[in-house]
Amino acid sequence: MCGIFGCALKDGSAAPLIHMGLKRLEYRGYDSVGIATIQEGAVRVRKDSGKIDDVAGRLGFDEMPGSVGVGHTRWATHGAPMMVNAHPHIDCGGRIAVVHNGVIENYLELKEELINGGHNFVSRTDTEVIPHLIEEELKGGIDFGKAFLGALRRLRGSYAVAVVSSADPERIYCARNESPLVLGVSDQGVFCASDVPAMLPYTNRVAWLRNGEAAVLSADGFEVMRIEDGSPVDRGLTEVTWSLEMAEKRGYPHFMLKEIYEQPRSLRNALRLQHQYLDLLTAFLDRGRELFLVAAGTSYHACLAASYMFSKLAKLTTYPVVSSEFVERYGASVGIDSIVLTVSQSGETYDTLRAVDHARMRAATVLGITNTVGSTLTRVARAYVIQQSGPEIGVAATKTFTSQLLVLAQLALRLARTRGKVSQDEIDDLEAKLVEVPSFVERTLEGQAEHVEALARKYADERLFLFLGRGVSSATALESRLKVLEITYVPSLAYPAGESKHGPISVVEEGVPCIFICPRGETRRDIVGSIMEMKARGARIIAVCEEGDEGIIDLSDDHIEMPRGVPELLSPIIYVVPLQLLAYHLATTKGLDPDKPRNLAKSVTVP
Ligand code: AGP
Repeated sequence: MCGIFGCALKDGSAAPLIHMGLKRLEYRGYDSVGIATIQEGAVRVRKDSGKIDDVAGRLGFDEMPGSVGVGHTRWATHGAPMMVNAHPHIDCGGRIAVVHNGVIENYLELKEELINGGHNFVSRTDTEVIPHLIEEELKGGIDFGKAFLGALRRLRGSYAVAVVSSADPERIYCARNESPLVLGVSDQGVFCASDVPAMLPYTNRVAWLRNGEAAVLSADGFEVMRIEDGSPVDRGLTEVTWSLEMAEKRGYPHFMLKEIYEQPRSLRNALRLQHQYLDLLTAFLDRGRELFLVAAGTSYHACLAASYMFSKLAKLTTYPVVSSEFVERYGASVGIDSIVLTVSQSGETYDTLRAVDHARMRAATVLGITNTVGSTLTRVARAYVIQQSGPEIGVAATKTFTSQLLVLAQLALRLARTRGKVSQDEIDDLEAKLVEVPSFVERTLEGQAEHVEALARKYADERLFLFLGRGVSSATALESRLKVLEITYVPSLAYPAGESKHGPISVVEEGVPCIFICPRGETRRDIVGSIMEMKARGARIIAVCEEGDEGIIDLSDDHIEMPRGVPELLSPIIYVVPLQLLAYHLATTKGLDPDKPRNLAKSVTVP
């Protein structure tokens, strides 16, 4: 949940590049920041709590000399966000500086052992055990590389680490287990980072480290080896096609807004996926007795919506499950006949990968949908699809949600066709509508953006929102609620509308805004009843409904008009879009930064 950037350059100072690299990783964590470089054979560290540019200006990051260095932007897991807990962390002799992303599970026992051995700890972090462990290993008179591997073998838990030392001043030592780390090579030198966009200004030739691997970087190249036994690993470079421009804001004030507007394009990309991969996943799905759709957060909401598609179209018993609950809830019953389709934008979410590990151990077939080439999910899944949304920097997932759903819809339709459970005409019709999804979204953005912005101003001071929908629209309601909640901090509720009378309705009083998701379809008649219930208690109704749906519009105080002809089952992909915009404008109207919501990180790689 932190960002790492390091470089070994042939010429010039590493620190300004590290500073810029960390800026591009700010979405992974932003409570503290620090850099270590090697200057005239000695380790120099500057670090503090605060935003990257503030700390960089105050401590003069860009003036730090040395052509080899590592940096870190932190999202606190152990120890409060303060200078002493910021990375890099050093050993007693001040000769080894370590940056780390992840959680060392056995740090307390290691710390106790090291303190008993005379080591002096200054922070409350788990990371600090690493420089001291290396220091301890070095006492055996071995070279730095061996000491590094020896220390890693003592660690349990997740880590991506990068280390510089005066004992070997020309090199960076790095390693990964469960937390991502990518290497890059350019004419200028060699880089390591938590994510590809951070190094795109310098190179697009990259290599991903895998779990259990370490690497030694110098300005001229890198060597990869297995942590377990130090044996060499042959790892070639891959050329990534993301341009730097793709990863930047392109004139939008925030990444979130840019990503909302990218949806017509990302959805078109999701329709261009290679058919053989979709066919392969469909073949696996067809073998299953039951389907678990496993994910966290927004990705879970995509799974929830998709569960209606798989059940209704393919007649496959489908369970959408929050990944952190999967082992507790289904761990004992999942087995060889189960298909576990895992959805994760990052492909690195700890809870989701833990569910995957369990499912694999129980001999279930694990499939994946992710946006991240080379992520852990792509390596552990039996088969997977890359959703091709391009990098998503905003912490609040937007374009990756709609693309996940479009991929899932394609799979559900393929499976329905394979199984022959739904009439040919219905499938043909839905497939024709699938192709229209990007233009439905385009028309919504063109037609409703200004109106939604005005609605956000009107409702900016509300202290509670209710989001309600029936059937597949309950997933739209939950996802829209999550968007509002995570970037505006306004406590909000979301429920399947039929459930509201079993409790949530008690919070409704005069003027409370209730947002109803009302596509045309099987659930429309029931949603009218739910609207009436809320109106009778004084709620203000904001309906997201089809253009010209006078029955709903007449009942509403405000409404957002959606294009005609959207099938209910596909409606979450389109109906969520104006509500993403509503959340965005509510946040900016309140003066909040939607790209960096408090306490949240883009990729949650810790338990
Ligand atoms: C949504 O806006 C959040 N960023 C969060 O809920 C996210 O969807 C969740 O952490 C899952 O991430 P993943 O898709 O990378 O696994």
